Amino acid sequence: MKEMFDKLLASAIDARTAAYAPYSRFFVGAALMSEDGEIFTGCNVENISFGLTVCAERVAAFSAVAAKAKRFTALALVTDSPLPVNPCGACRQVLYEFSPDLWVVSATLQGKQKIFRLRELLPHAFDDFNPS
Ligand code: THU
Repeated sequence: MKEMFDKLLASAIDARTAAYAPYSRFFVGAALMSEDGEIFTGCNVENISFGLTVCAERVAAFSAVAAKAKRFTALALVTDSPLPVNPCGACRQVLYEFSPDLWVVSATLQGKQKIFRLRELLPHAFDDFNPS
């Protein structure tokens, strides 16, 4: 497990260098491992109309889906912050759609780490769509 997390974190560190965050200056990198071992990366992409910003996690997830990968084992997240960040609620719901049992490792550039399961980050997810 540690080897897989380390490999994924290295990809997230590299993805972070592509972050477009001129407004917040908070650069985020993400890397998502598919069940068959492929890695998909993402970075945050901000916009002058702030609400259009997309987080690194969703960029990675959508990039994977566009490449036909929909089942994931782990997500790595890297930031330059005093503590590892928790993924935002919107990203949790998007990731849950594809892999409710996802492992999430969040790390700072300085090497602090937190490990979660997505189910613990998003208990009681919206997962039962029954239009009448
Ligand atoms: N951001 C992410 O990309 N992922 C997170 O988990 C937290 C927040 C981005 C969005 C925005 O570009 C910047 O970080 C500050 O919120």
